[in-house]
Order: sequence, then C-alpha cells, then structure tokens
Amino acid sequence: MPKKAKKAIEIDENTEFKPSKEFSKNARVKSMAQYKRMHAESIDKPNVFWAREAKELKWQKKWDKVLDWKAPNAKWFSGAKLNVCENCVDRHVEEGRGNKAAIIWEGEPGDKRVITYRQLLRDVSRFANALIAEGIKPKDNVIIYMPMTPEATIAMLACARIGAVHSVVFGGFSAESIKDRLDDSEAVAVITCDGGWRRGGTVALKANVDEALKGNKTVKTVIVQKRVGNDVTMKKGRDKWWDDAIADMPGTHKPKGFNAEHPLFILYTSGSTGKPKGILHTAGGYMVGTYTTCKYIFDMKEDDVFWCTADVGWITGHSYITYGPLLNGVTQIMYEGAPNYPEWNRFWSIIEEYGVSIFYTAPTAIRAFIKAGDEHVDKHDLSSLRLLGTVGEPINPAAWLWYYEKIGGGRCPIVDTWWQTETGAVMISPLPGCTPIKPGTATLPFFGVDAAILDEEGNECKPDVPGKLVIRKPWPSMLRNIYKDKKRYKDTYWSDYPGVYTAGDGARKDKKGNIYIVGRLDDVLNVSGHRLGTAEVESSLVSHKTVAEAAVVGKPHEIKGESIVCFVTLKTGVKDTDALKKELRNHVGKVIGAIAKPDAIHFTPALPKTRSGKIMRRLLKELVKTGKVTGNVTTLEDSKVIDVLQKSMQAT
Ligand code: WTA
Repeated sequence: MPKKAKKAIEIDENTEFKPSKEFSKNARVKSMAQYKRMHAESIDKPNVFWAREAKELKWQKKWDKVLDWKAPNAKWFSGAKLNVCENCVDRHVEEGRGNKAAIIWEGEPGDKRVITYRQLLRDVSRFANALIAEGIKPKDNVIIYMPMTPEATIAMLACARIGAVHSVVFGGFSAESIKDRLDDSEAVAVITCDGGWRRGGTVALKANVDEALKGNKTVKTVIVQKRVGNDVTMKKGRDKWWDDAIADMPGTHKPKGFNAEHPLFILYTSGSTGKPKGILHTAGGYMVGTYTTCKYIFDMKEDDVFWCTADVGWITGHSYITYGPLLNGVTQIMYEGAPNYPEWNRFWSIIEEYGVSIFYTAPTAIRAFIKAGDEHVDKHDLSSLRLLGTVGEPINPAAWLWYYEKIGGGRCPIVDTWWQTETGAVMISPLPGCTPIKPGTATLPFFGVDAAILDEEGNECKPDVPGKLVIRKPWPSMLRNIYKDKKRYKDTYWSDYPGVYTAGDGARKDKKGNIYIVGRLDDVLNVSGHRLGTAEVESSLVSHKTVAEAAVVGKPHEIKGESIVCFVTLKTGVKDTDALKKELRNHVGKVIGAIAKPDAIHFTPALPKTRSGKIMRRLLKELVKTGKVTGNVTTLEDSKVIDVLQKSMQAT
C-alpha cells in the first residue's frame, strides 16, 4: 500500500501546538493550572517561592532576607554566603555525579574531549590556584578572550571560585573592542588563546590581545591556552602558557563562600550610545535564576544531554553553557566552530553522535539551515531530541514550522525564550510541558516575572495594541548596575516609569496574554542575533579620516534578521569610490569586529536632519525598507536631501 502522504500543517496566527500527553506527564510543570498556581505564588509571595528554589542549591551560610528592594536597587539573599563554582562543580561530585560527563566537547577540526564532573573539579581547582598564584584577588576584574574551548568555561568558573569578576569578550571582537573593555573594567589579567579554529582557518586571538594591551597599565598577567599552534609573541614577565601556569598547581582548592551580592561578572553589551555598557551581575541571584530557568523551561533532568549553540562571549553562553546546565548537573555539548564546517550537516551530526536531547539555538541559524537544504538534515537520526529552544530575536512562523517538523520531528515542543543580557536569565517563555505554543510568540512570563505592556502614560495597553515591554517587580538574576555608572543604570532602565524596568523592546499581548516581541525601540540592531548599537557603527565610521558624518540603520534581512545599512557623508574633496566603500567596511570590522561590517554603504552629500540638527533616522529606516519616504518631512531642515537619497538608493 502506498504510504499516506503526511498532511502539511497549515498555520495561521491562531494555530496552537500542545505538548504530547507523554511529555506533559514527565515534565516538571505538567499543566496550566500548575503553572498559574506557581506563577501566582512567585508574584504574591516571592520570598516563599524563591527561598524554596534556592534551598535546592548549596549555601555556605543561609540568607537573612530573600529580597531587599529599594528601587532600582535590589539585594537578593542578603546575609548569605555561597560559591557559584562550588554549586556548578563540587556539589555534583559530592552527590555522586563524579564520573558523569559534564562537558562533551568537539573541536572544529573534529578532535573530541569528554570532561567528567570530577575532572572539571580538578581542572577548575588547578586553574583557580594558578590565578591566586598570579596575585588575583576577589573583586579583581579579569578579561577572558577565548574561542569555544572547555578552557573558556574553566576560566570563567575559576574566576567565580576565587571571587574574581570575569568579563568575557566575544572572540569575534577586534583589538580596539578589547581595549575599550580593558580601559573601562581596569582588568588586572587577560586569559586568552593563541588562536581559535573558524571555517578551517585560524583566528589570531593572542595577536589581538597584544594590540589591545599597548599602553595598558593595569594588566599584570596574560595566560595563554595553546590551541592552534600559530606563532605568538610572549612578553616576558607578563605572558604565560596555560599549561605552565597550572603545571605546579594542586588539583584541589577549597571554595570560599562569598556574599550573595558579590560581583560575579561584567558583560559588555550595546546600547544607544557609542560606548558599550558593562552589565553587572552578582552571585546569588544569578545562580538561582539560571538554575531555575534551566530546570523549568528546559525541563532539565538527570539524563538530559543539553546543547546550547551560543558562544560564551554572549549572555546566552554565560547563562546556558557555563552556569545553568552545570548548576543542574546535566551533560552538555560544547562545539568550537562554525555550523557549516566542513558541511551544513555539522550540527545534525553532533546531535546524532552524542544523543542530544535538548537543543537551543538562534532563529538566524535556523533560517540559514533552511536555505542550505533539507538533504543535510535528512541523513541524520535526530530521534534523541525531545525539546527545542530559540533565543535572540523573533522567530518567523515559517522558520518555526521547519524547526518543529524537520528538526523536532513534530514531537518536540519549542520554547521561544525572550530575555536580555540585563535580565541574566529567561524571562518570557513557554513551559514545555504545559503552555500551548503559537509560532512567533514567547508566550507567558516565567516565575517571578511581572511583565506588562505599557503606553506612554504608563497604562497597560489593550490586547493586540503594541507598547513598551516592562517588568514591574525585581527578579533574582536582574542586573545590579552598569559597571561604575549608577546614573546610567537608573536613567536607562528605571526612568520611563518609576520603579519599573524598561526592557527597550516593543511588544504586544494577545487576548490570552501571549506576549509578541515586536523589536527594539532604541537604536540597537539585532544582526544574526547579535546586539549592536547603530551609534557604535556610526562612531567607528566617523573615526575614519575621510568621513564627515554617518547614520546607520537596520534593514530587514531574510537570514540575519537585520542587516547594517550606512549613509555616509564624506569630507570635502574626498572621492566617493567603490574602493573607499570597501575600505570603510574593513575599517568598521577593524574597530568593532567582523560582525559589525556594514552590508551596504551609501554616500550622500548630506543627511536628513531636523532644524535642530538631529538626524531623522525614521526617514532613513523607511527609505531602506521601502525605497521611498512617504512620512512627514516638514520638520526637515532641507527636504531636497530626501530626493537625492532616493535617487542614489535607486542607482545602487
Ligand atoms: C531580542 C539575548 C524576540 C530582544 C538573550 C532583546 C528577542 C535582545 C528574543 C537582547 C526572543 C531576545 N524573541 N526577541 N525570544 N530574545 N530578543 O542582550 O530585542 O544579546 O532586547 O540577549 O534580543 O539581546 P541580548
């Protein structure tokens, strides 16, 4: 008998997907009634709710108070002492998981390593001892600039273990970006690698660090992991190979308890100015937040094999590679390289080989896989998967459906998780065992999250009316500050409505309360899931000797989500050649990093400005999106500029 053709699923915005009975039965949260009960408790009695969750972790001294809140300053678990690293590593050895794989790592060239919890404890302890031997003390800042090797995670955990504050800089960022972060953080040490593998080639990380350290006065130590074996310069008295640094170090180290509000890390992220913000997270609350979100949203259990494809240079890699999965004692996969190296099936071959059960990736990657073709997926057995997740940007229904059917085989719920560097952990997401899922919505708030959509006056928007996404109550993994800048912290996040956190995203709720993220309200772009400030790109452009002025806007892009379009006015007498466009592109790459290289540059004799001299980005956005400007241009200082721009856009 011919096989019955599988009916294609047709979806519209009302189609709901429910987890199977089997999934719900085994899930940590099994029904909407249970979710509602727990959510109500987390909002009405946060002290009761969070104390119960926190008790599952190890505290060297218990807290006196769960929450101390004087907006916009929160103290969680005051009076408590704990060590986050001890919770990620030692606790599991004590509980009998010593020989369980903590990290299964695959390098891009195909080399493999399995690190058990016991080995991780030894490796982290030795490295912690090495950091101490280098004179690194609690609250010292340490920059980590590494590829995706287990040593990146070990370095982060070792910092946490000794109370030093790590600040990971994404390996794709340039020497100048490292320098900015070194200057702002006044770091005393840098941990890096000779290089990393990327699409068969190597990225020269140590050389970038050398460049960034020119003229630096605070860094005393640079520890270098040997990974690719390229030539590097080692500065005597400052630079040390990783293996030499740990050679004489004992493999044991007693984890000291630190205050719950002890700083854990600073992670720089883009905002609406040219200067990245150092988002500060602290130990106790962040630990509880990442632990709980993994437990409930990823439904993590003892036998799960979790794989988050992010880079440790981003918040997703912090919360869902280094901390959350290890706090839950699961086995996780870590992969060094590009998703399409040597072929587009690399991810699917890794899932098959290691039996990944929970897979967490970005919509931009999903769209790239769709374009690469189904044949790369078809040759792999993905039946070990039980749960899928997405993060970083809205997922379009077509990509959602492909992910659901082709990767999840129609049996895996998808958790579309909304959150930010600032929130530390997932804030809005389905719970996979109970929430009815609709493609394109992150659905409902997580426990302890009081999310609302407000209009300019601070009233809640009616269903389906977009407004500003806010969080009305503090949550454990919230940022505590912008490093050394309380004023900017308060102005950026807590000033639109008193005592309320403004996320910077536009959103709407449907009648059932499902939250749809519309996109950023500030001048922040989301390029392939990476956050990038238009002001950063603009200031890198004007730092070039030929550029007088620049305006940067995002243009919707099929795969990247958004692409970077620049309007550039050159200094008088400079010729607007294609060679100069190329030079400017490379210049931005050099100043910020390859991820910020513009997709298009348009030269223009002038930019559209208001009479008070403000660039009217709204018009530029409309222009790149539709090719013309229809909106109100009466406030323009010189309306002829628009005609010129329209013509120049049509010509390119
Ligand atoms: C966007 C990444 C829609 C959003 C974890 C947010 C999303 C910014 C989603 C934070 C999602 C993140 N749906 N948009 N599920 N998740 N975003 O700090 O605009 O790199 O403000 O943190 O990404 O980016 P960040």
